[in-house]
Amino acid sequence: MTQRKRCLSGMRPTGKLHLGHLVGALTNWKALQEEHDCFFMVADWHALMSEYEHPEAVREAIEDNVLDWLACGIDPKRSVIFRQSDVPEHTELYAVLSILTPLGWLERVPTYKEQLRELEGRELATHGFLGYPVLQAADILLYKAHVVPVGEDQLPHLELAREIVRRFHHLYRCTVFPEPKPLLTHAPKLLGTDGRKMSKSYGNAIALSDAPETIRQRVQSMFTDPLRIKMTDQGHPQTCNVCNYWKVFERPERAAVVWEECRTAARGCVQNKRELAEILINVTEPFRAIRQTPAAKDRHVERLLREGAERARAVASSTMAEVKRTIGL
Ligand code: TRP
Repeated sequence: MTQRKRCLSGMRPTGKLHLGHLVGALTNWKALQEEHDCFFMVADWHALMSEYEHPEAVREAIEDNVLDWLACGIDPKRSVIFRQSDVPEHTELYAVLSILTPLGWLERVPTYKEQLRELEGRELATHGFLGYPVLQAADILLYKAHVVPVGEDQLPHLELAREIVRRFHHLYRCTVFPEPKPLLTHAPKLLGTDGRKMSKSYGNAIALSDAPETIRQRVQSMFTDPLRIKMTDQGHPQTCNVCNYWKVFERPERAAVVWEECRTAARGCVQNKRELAEILINVTEPFRAIRQTPAAKDRHVERLLREGAERARAVASSTMAEVKRTIGL
């Protein structure tokens, strides 16, 4: 018996993972493995809810994303890495929770209206998309997870999961689930190369598996301090996206020197970008390297996911049996 807390998180396989995923989620996932029993899930049902018109893109992203997880140090020996759709209990518990979740709770979730607006060009006024957070609650509750590492945007979904737990316990006079707590990732803020939120759909992301030449081009296109026109102008590193990257990806002492050189016009933006590109190429090296190893071939990922699904199912089926007993099915 372990006293370690259980942790579950998931990522939607909608495309290549980028630097934002690395600093915003993966680095934290990797660290959590030290002190938690971790379940890391490829949320393919969730991806399909917005990408159902292109299921082949979701399928391709699954293996690609898992390779990035492995390269980053998510360890299948220590953590359970699995694909949501391999564990049918997710949709089964989702059905149970759907029955008892008031429609008003879902219509109130702020991400719902926001996404409808943001992901334009897709028909998202669907039954499934409204139920997105209910499936997410099922993901978490199936493993009786205590903590769920998420970014700030996911907090309303976590709150809904907690409300669903309370309602379930109240309705059936039981305590089956721990109330899952969000584990806010205190990630440094990383903007896209154009200064907007980093997102594949904006075309401003640097993918973890990008080729060095692509990274150099992307970094060359980054905006710097708009108030610094000539090299002799003093810079304002705190408002410069390139300088912010330096702070995120370079040792603090070195980044501090670079900031000071920018402030005193001892270094120009061109040099700043050229050196940053090499740092990013270095940081992303494992993500390119893994694609050259046997791990990327011979259906290694597929096998790994199958093993993960078995371990996940052992837990999920036991929870589902308990749920059915509790509600009298
Ligand atoms: N909705 C999450 C996101 O978009 C992904 C996700 C699906 C998730 N199921 C989860 C995260 C369960 C945490 C726990 O980022």
